[in-house]
Amino acid sequence: MRDPSPLELLTARPALRMDAEAGLLFENLPLIDIVRAHATPTWVYGADTIKTRYRRLKTAFPTTKIHYAVKANDHLAVLAVLAREGAGADVVSIGELQRALHAGIPPNRIVFSGVGKTETELSAALHHRIATINVESPEELATLSALATAAQTRAPVALRVNPEVDANTHEKISTGRKGDKFGIPIAEIPALYAHASTLPGIALQGLAVHIGSQVTTTAPYHAAYTKLAALVRDLRAQNLPITTLDCGGGLAVPYRNEPVPLPEAWAATIAKAFSGLNLALTIEPGRWITAPAGLLVARIIRSRRQNMPRPLHVIDAAMNDFARPAMYGAWHGILPLSPTALHAPLAEADFAGPICESSDFLARRRAAPPLHEADLVAILDVGAYGAVMSSTYNARPHAAQVMLHDGIATLIRPRPPVADLWSDETVPTDLK
Ligand code: LLP
Repeated sequence: MRDPSPLELLTARPALRMDAEAGLLFENLPLIDIVRAHATPTWVYGADTIKTRYRRLKTAFPTTKIHYAVKANDHLAVLAVLAREGAGADVVSIGELQRALHAGIPPNRIVFSGVGKTETELSAALHHRIATINVESPEELATLSALATAAQTRAPVALRVNPEVDANTHEKISTGRKGDKFGIPIAEIPALYAHASTLPGIALQGLAVHIGSQVTTTAPYHAAYTKLAALVRDLRAQNLPITTLDCGGGLAVPYRNEPVPLPEAWAATIAKAFSGLNLALTIEPGRWITAPAGLLVARIIRSRRQNMPRPLHVIDAAMNDFARPAMYGAWHGILPLSPTALHAPLAEADFAGPICESSDFLARRRAAPPLHEADLVAILDVGAYGAVMSSTYNARPHAAQVMLHDGIATLIRPRPPVADLWSDETVPTDLK
């Protein structure tokens, strides 16, 4: 596939515009102003984009509950935007649970997923009376039943099914194949479901499935949901009640302007598979809602051209800030902030971070306009699995975070001073 040009990237993203004077605008605000106020590297999120995308999903899924996968971007401001839109949350740790509650997402709109929930986490889920705990193993089911019984309550449970379907996505984000660590093998479900229905501490609701992330065609969804529908019929044939079905997340975004299914196509796949079964349906999308709502603005520290196969731009954002390219070989668009660069002739260039790792590249062999030291660039579609996956490797403080809302840019997380990196470290007395 041919890479989209910077102009094609821009044209396909409604929240971005190039102004002949102010340069690259995001939600109508010049990114250069944000750089002047907060320097680089800085994450910029557009609240309107988050809202627009959530509403678009809601239109495609009018009767399905939407539980935003908090892991994609758990900033309180992002969660607050979604809470006000009426979204629920899919959480995978006590930290995410508390963040979601803190942002104002009501407990009856929260589901808890994950293969390794601790007793503390399960107890917190019971305590807060969240909507559903997606149980991923017989062992977790037994522990949860015991905890609920001791607390004189019943745990609302769905069993997460591993449907043994390949989502045809990156190896590291596939979750529904035979042998993946997630969910309960589909063949074991009928017996476990029957057993769960007899446990005193368990209020059984239904099933959950999540086959992976960045799912670029509806075919794997169709395969998984067809199996789930058959399973629902089997369970009901054994007089086991099942009222809810969590269809998971995973809808892809077109990072490279590639064709991906629209929300309506995903909704149609779900509707077709489960029609007539009278199930309360939910989805847990993360990436689709927030990825295009975030940019990472960075500055070129140094451009090397001598004796190089192509120009190497070393920028001040690195794999510690944004791990996806180094971790999954992910492709993210890069746009210059300057209006003149957009129409300049393109030539291949590499973009790397300053970290001492050979994998610290943000883009390789990228068709880019001529760029020079001190030029500014925006890395696109980083609103999901961006800042949440940052580290401070190489003693690099976290980047600043800004949210655009109603035409105002708010600093929602300042760049911490370098000394914060060691402010909670202790040196044993005899070494001081
Ligand atoms: N539900 C469950 C149970 C999940 O494990 C996930 C994502 C989601 C929902 C949301 O999936 P989404 O709609 O965002 O695709 N760091 C990786 C992605 C990891 C996804 C983990 N689970 C990346 O940057 O591509």
